[in-house]
Amino acid sequence: MNCRFVMLLLVLAALPSAADPFPKGDPKIGNSLEQKSCRACHVSMYGGDGSKVYTRPNRIVTTPQQLLARIDICSTNTNAGLFPEDEEHVAAFLNQQYYKFK
Ligand code: HEC
Repeated sequence: MNCRFVMLLLVLAALPSAADPFPKGDPKIGNSLEQKSCRACHVSMYGGDGSKVYTRPNRIVTTPQQLLARIDICSTNTNAGLFPEDEEHVAAFLNQQYYKFK
């Protein structure tokens, strides 16, 4: 193997792996926002801690864009009144916990 190729591999390995789809979102803030504005309804419909809505096999969200869009729909529908930056926090939280999009 040539030496330059090995160097390239080392450099690539040192780069942060996997881009974060919600770089401006803070999962901690998202967690408390979700708890406050969203969880009760999901719990009443899906039982447990309500997280089944995010983990059910036929879940409707399959991309980061859809996740943001769905958060916006749910927020608007329910008058949760999240600002776009709040939605990004919630997206970061839901992604870290459940969706794991890269
Ligand atoms: C009044 C009830 C209610 C509230 C409040 C609510 N949701 Fe939902 N949410 C639903 C229902 C019902 C679904 C399932 C829709 C479907 O299956 O088509 C859902 C689905 C979702 C999904 C998609 C899950 C999947 O299938 O991948 C996300 C994400 C979501 N909600 C986020 C939120 C967020 C964030 C909030 C708070 C701002 C919120 N929801 C508040 C009722 C609610």
